[in-house]
Amino acid sequence: LRKHPIFADLEPDAFDQLCRYARHSTLKRGSTLFSKGDPGNSLYAVISGTVKMSISSPDGRNAILNIIEPGEIFGEMALLDGRARSADAIANSNCELFVIDRREFIPFVKSQPTLAMKFIELLCDRLRRTSDQVEQIILQDLPGRLASALLRLTEKHKLEPQGRTIAITQQEISEMVGMTRESINKQLRAWASRDWVRLEHGAIVVLNAEMIRELAEAGP
Ligand code: CMP
Repeated sequence: LRKHPIFADLEPDAFDQLCRYARHSTLKRGSTLFSKGDPGNSLYAVISGTVKMSISSPDGRNAILNIIEPGEIFGEMALLDGRARSADAIANSNCELFVIDRREFIPFVKSQPTLAMKFIELLCDRLRRTSDQVEQIILQDLPGRLASALLRLTEKHKLEPQGRTIAITQQEISEMVGMTRESINKQLRAWASRDWVRLEHGAIVVLNAEMIRELAEAGP
């Protein structure tokens, strides 16, 4: 848990207390941990693997809100406001998690103002990202939206954008930016022919970060 930035500044005693509340759990690739609308009584911290937060429509289309990586947490919204889960949580790979129950966690957060502030910062960060995504979906054209998504992913991974690999499928990108997989593939292939990106199985390598940034910032 110390590897999770949100808990890193806890005093040793408080950290020990938190560890007593946390239990270890595993998830198989493709399994659903919870669905939108479920009651939410736990917070999850990812130790290994990735978990996809997504929303699906009755006709089977998906929108990916976020992909949670090791060192990140999810399930904080229902935990903090006591309402239903706002999205589905599906394991993108085999995962190891820490699970902390609301009953113990809420009194703990109330006794730890620094931790409460960290949660507020996390929620602000997620709201900012969501606002950026809404802006891109409403105001940007296809190349701009795709370029913005690639930049967001490199920034999230704190990657030097140049020449770094983003482990994501084209289907996942299409579910993140709200465009068909075919149009994503066509655009990526056009960029690959100019050596701005390289396409690998289940991954995209950004080769010309300046061009991608220019496209992302070009606006509508
Ligand atoms: P919760 O509502 O408990 O369950 C679904 C989780 O998905 C939610 O908590 C957050 O952890 C995550 N989530 C929901 N909406 C977003 C969003 N817009 N951006 C990032 N993560 C989100």
